[in-house]
Amino acid sequence: MSKKVGRAVTEKHFALQNHDYFSKLEGSKHIATLTSQLNLENLLNQFNPKAILDWGSGIGTLTNLAHKVCDPKLYAFEQDKYCRDLAAINLAGLPVEYVSEDYIPVDIEAAFLDGEISKLQINRLIASKNLKFIFIEGWRNKTVIEISRQLQRKGYAAKFERHGGWLSYYSKPEGFEKGGAWFILEKTNKPKVLISRLKRIKSTGAAADPIMKAFFELSTKTHKFRHPKSTFLSRKRAL
Ligand SMILES: C[S@@+](CC[C@H](N)C(=O)[O-])C[C@H]1O[C@@H](n2cnc3c(N)ncnc32)[C@H](O)[C@@H]1O
Repeated sequence: MSKKVGRAVTEKHFALQNHDYFSKLEGSKHIATLTSQLNLENLLNQFNPKAILDWGSGIGTLTNLAHKVCDPKLYAFEQDKYCRDLAAINLAGLPVEYVSEDYIPVDIEAAFLDGEISKLQINRLIASKNLKFIFIEGWRNKTVIEISRQLQRKGYAAKFERHGGWLSYYSKPEGFEKGGAWFILEKTNKPKVLISRLKRIKSTGAAADPIMKAFFELSTKTHKFRHPKSTFLSRKRAL
């Protein structure tokens, strides 16, 4: 049994109502967890962004949360038409501007990432002058490591946190579910930027990344060497 940690979730939280509401809707299988929504609500209250970008907005869960908490200008990116159509119903009346994959608005003050994002798109995202925080839903380790790297190049120090320790006993009796990760950005001088990056190396998992890559490459090479037989065998096993 895991320990009960974190703050109590009260009915006052928009995240709770939002999670309850969206989890009953069509297409809700992949929505952000309650823990993530609580953590994001906390950030929205803290930074009160005037414009947000919900990247991989799905059926609109996090877009709606942002609207309820601080009523910002809403941008979203969603490649799946089925999800966009559902979001249009779920967010009826909200002025959400859908952006294309090669356009990141320059006025955004917060970004939520819950979909695939390329290095170039991250580069454009971080170019937004007033960006205060980036929230990443789920694990998305590659995205986290790439953002951490690019923040340093763009002259940002950033505090990184993963899962805030909220206890989501509503959905998981054992009290654990993923709660997202986030960078809180600060433009500052070069030494501070560097120190901040070094501090993030461990917490973002960047230290282990080269080891994982080397392991992956090695296992791919081994796999190629054994290719004809092992592929045949694994196909047979899969049947
Ligand atoms: C984890 S989901 C995003 C969820 C979104 N942030 C939310 O909380 O509603 C990531 C991606 O999966 C795809 N997706 C999510 N739900 C889907 C569904 N019901 N059917 C097909 N694709 C889905 C969408 O392209 C979406 O951007």
